[in-house]
Amino acid sequence: MSQPSTGYTVGFAAGICLVASVFVSGAAVSLKPMQEANKVLDRQKKVLGVAGLMEKGEAITPDEIQKRFDENIIARLVSLESGLVVETADNGQTADEYDQLKATKDPALSIATPDNKAKVPRMAKLATVYCVKQDAGCDQHILPIEGKGLWSTMYGFVSVDSDANTIRGITFYQHGETPGLGGEIDNLDWQQKWVGRKVYNDKGSVAIHVKKGAAGKADVAPYSVDGLSGATLTSNGVTHSLDLWLGAQGFESYLSNVKSGKVKG
Ligand SMILES: Cc1cc2nc3c(=O)[nH]c(=O)nc-3n(C[C@H](O)[C@H](O)[C@H](O)COP(=O)(O)O)c2cc1C
Repeated sequence: MSQPSTGYTVGFAAGICLVASVFVSGAAVSLKPMQEANKVLDRQKKVLGVAGLMEKGEAITPDEIQKRFDENIIARLVSLESGLVVETADNGQTADEYDQLKATKDPALSIATPDNKAKVPRMAKLATVYCVKQDAGCDQHILPIEGKGLWSTMYGFVSVDSDANTIRGITFYQHGETPGLGGEIDNLDWQQKWVGRKVYNDKGSVAIHVKKGAAGKADVAPYSVDGLSGATLTSNGVTHSLDLWLGAQGFESYLSNVKSGKVKG
């Protein structure tokens, strides 16, 4: 039997590659909306978790996540500069439509962050804050945080009580730290240690930090949390993230407005 020509073989291989690439890119494009929806759902689940609106290890359906989120949480747009709540972003988006992470990459909607240890190069001018509804106001303010760990940028939320100082919870929804080391930022027992600690000291400076070693209970160590063993670099990244996002570049003015009553909550 005669062998196929080189041209035929190359053409055949190229045809197979083309057909396969059409399938792969078609699948990637068609699955994108589902992936985006799952990301939103995962973030909503984290918000419910940090707000204490989900039991530890509770199995919850996507419909129940959506229902519980809608019943208990209101998203608000906050200007990091003024600390005030605004109705819409410059591009006309409402809090439910706005994507803070996308805005961070848009030069018109973000500003360069002064040199900072969290290594965050830009911050969106407007942040999405999740208010946990209570009567006509907010029982907790769930604030987005971000900063470099050892290997990755860690994205999460810290929940602050309506007293504008007491931490009600912390969680991370995206990072690439090592499981068992820096990845222990996902450990619910470690996250529980944050509850009841204070953000600001008597001078009004951000004092909360992750300590190397054991910190003790919140009543004796209001400003420090146990370090993650074997993961000091990730722990420091968490400290730096909080320093940035709860400080003057971040939510300091918003929380101050909450405290003074200028912002309802
Ligand atoms: C493969 C590998 C993965 C590591 N992953 C992390 C990590 O995710 N976070 C972290 O802080 N340290 C990680 N480390 C350890 C750091 O290099 C460093 O030793 C550690 O942060 C120091 O913390 P310690 O003072 O608590 O021991 C890793 C080390 C190795 C070899």
